[in-house]
Amino acid sequence: MTQRSQVSKERLEEIAEVLELKQVWDRDIELLSGGELQRFAIGMVCVQDADVYMFDEPSSFLDVKQRLAASRMIRSLLGPDKYVIVVEHDLAVLDYLSDYICVLYGKPAVYGVVTAPFSVREGINIFLDGNVPTENLRFREESLQFRIGEAGEEYLVDKSRGYNYPKMTKTLGSFNLTIETGDFTDSEIIVMMGENGTGKTTFCKMLAGAEKPDGTQKVPSMNISMKPQKITPKFTGTVRQLFFKKIKAAFLSPQFQTDVYKPLKMDDFIDQEVQNLSGGELQRVAIVLALGIPADIYLIDEPSAYLDSEQRIVAARVIKRFIMHSKKTAFVVEHDFIMATYLADRVIVFDGQPSVKSRANKPESLLTGCNRFLESLDVTFRRDPNTYRPRINKLNSQLDNEQKNAGNYVSHVPALSA
Ligand SMILES: Nc1ncnc2c1ncn2[C@@H]1O[C@H](COP(=O)(O)OP(=O)(O)OP(=O)(O)O)[C@@H](O)[C@H]1O
Ligand SMILES: [Mg+2]
Repeated sequence: MTQRSQVSKERLEEIAEVLELKQVWDRDIELLSGGELQRFAIGMVCVQDADVYMFDEPSSFLDVKQRLAASRMIRSLLGPDKYVIVVEHDLAVLDYLSDYICVLYGKPAVYGVVTAPFSVREGINIFLDGNVPTENLRFREESLQFRIGEAGEEYLVDKSRGYNYPKMTKTLGSFNLTIETGDFTDSEIIVMMGENGTGKTTFCKMLAGAEKPDGTQKVPSMNISMKPQKITPKFTGTVRQLFFKKIKAAFLSPQFQTDVYKPLKMDDFIDQEVQNLSGGELQRVAIVLALGIPADIYLIDEPSAYLDSEQRIVAARVIKRFIMHSKKTAFVVEHDFIMATYLADRVIVFDGQPSVKSRANKPESLLTGCNRFLESLDVTFRRDPNTYRPRINKLNSQLDNEQKNAGNYVSHVPALSA
């Protein structure tokens, strides 16, 4: 048994390499960051020699690059008589990771049903569609779509106001961030893409005025509302009381109710104590609070964290609709690539050495930004012809190679930028 449960030294090296555990090899487990701890936990499962491996939400806390590295690691466990079962919310990861998909549906806290296994594409499409054709059963009224400019969602874009910020640097201990000068307008969503520890949150805090740039540089003062990445509720009372206290006007506005409050299904827990909410409920409360405060610029740091894939799509639509209807600007930090591309009008790509020295490039088009970011990750996406959902090509597949050769890391460009 001991013989069987050990992996070879080479394999251990490989696992540590792929999951980038070498740099934290001698660190106490209690000191690891969320992403490092997650990678360690995945590594601990991978070093076992088992017949069946199970992973519950392996992508949590990981940036896109780490999500893909973890997926490759998990796939490498497969063998003729070895199986892997994964629970996952990030549809792009799921797509990359799996051979078969079982969809779970039902009523939260009441019952759940697991479908028979489907092919990856079919499984995800069933989930998005809300309909199991083999059972002739509809488990959700509406289907979830990624098409930009969905029916009835054409926005009248009126970019009358322009803003800009200067080139800045920010030093935090041994971490250094350079921000290239940039500009933005109203009715625009700018998504920040970058690995863990490249300064996305720091940049948001600087825009919000909570962190000052080095030297005499200045961020123009703007009217900001921010949803922080870390949500630590101090409020004692119910969600309703919190909304009345912080965002009474928005809470009572029919437009806000229709655009934000209802789609996020806040009524399900409006009279619960804020202190007792689950992670996903808290995240939704935080999104509503941030959007409910009147501002010109909305900074939304990782809205998808703790949300399941359905809630992610709803949240992305809510943010998009709100920003477009109110003709405001949003900066959104997002690791879920599907959400990021759905939301973005333009992107800011962060590069450099994570945790040490990094750079925020100036805002660029979704297309050039995605190409730049994905090239650094060595990943290509195609679009699902029915749902327009971006799908990751398998590494070194024919499409992957073709797209890389053409420098076209996201295919079906017109749909992306339409
Ligand atoms: N007060 C501080 N002193 C020293 N280093 C800091 C301080 N605050 C942040 N850092 C470091 O700055 C880097 C950038 O942090 P930041 O939170 O902006 O990253 P991020 O891009 O938002 O990452 P993530 O995707 O994990 O949220 C990290 O390496 C972090 O450890
Ligand atoms: Mg952050």
